[in-house]
Amino acid sequence: MKSTRVMRLEPAAERGKLEAESRISVDPLLNNNIGAYARNQAPTIIWFTGLSGAGKTTTASLLERKLTSIGCGTYLLDGDVIRKGLCKDLGFSDQDRIENIRRVGEVAKLMIDAGLIVLASFISPFQRDRDLVRSMVAKGEFIECHVKASLEVCEQRDPKGLYKKARSGELKNFTGVDSLYEKPLNPELVIDTELFSPEELVDKMVDYLKANGVIQ
Ligand SMILES: Nc1ncnc2c1ncn2[C@@H]1O[C@H](COP(=O)(O)OP(=O)(O)OP(=O)(O)O)[C@@H](O)[C@H]1O
Ligand SMILES: [Mg+2]
Repeated sequence: MKSTRVMRLEPAAERGKLEAESRISVDPLLNNNIGAYARNQAPTIIWFTGLSGAGKTTTASLLERKLTSIGCGTYLLDGDVIRKGLCKDLGFSDQDRIENIRRVGEVAKLMIDAGLIVLASFISPFQRDRDLVRSMVAKGEFIECHVKASLEVCEQRDPKGLYKKARSGELKNFTGVDSLYEKPLNPELVIDTELFSPEELVDKMVDYLKANGVIQ
């Protein structure tokens, strides 16, 4: 079996150069990536983006359960949870959405250093912000996954009643209604939640992660 230490060496070395300076300027004792070698997996951010109700949380949490069951170390960062804690000071203006994703990116990056597979489920409507998170980690450590469902279907599902509130004007700046969603331009994965069940999608994702050396 191929060792993840080997898989991990190149990106870590690449990024090590970039990060070393900023870390050393904080404290030379801070050694990046030491946690990454302890697990039989390649640390990666799997970034789920899509409209509200598209199925980000549903798919990400099922994938996390699956990965955990086969011994992977994971953490699920979910928009609803983050907005109650780390980002509770932020609203839904474009500026606040940008800051929300920037903070999540910084947290995800630390988790990459800890050797984890990070599942991040955020509407994250702007390509620029998703690209910013991509740029924070090494090449290959960011998998953009477009969770795809039409606005009509998401609105029919409306699992939290948010579209109803947005249509009535009770909720402002709601993605797809009165705030923009930029579809991913070049995502690694597109998962269509209108065509496939969550279980089928998770199976496809696991195949992809194996084929790309993220898990064994
Ligand atoms: N194939 C599928 N994959 C995922 N969810 C599906 C699928 N088919 C139907 N659903 C339903 O769609 C809804 C998706 O809700 P979910 O909370 O996962 O969306 P979300 O993208 O996380 O939205 P939000 O951005 O508001 O958090 C759920 O009610 C789920 O049961
Ligand atoms: Mg969700």
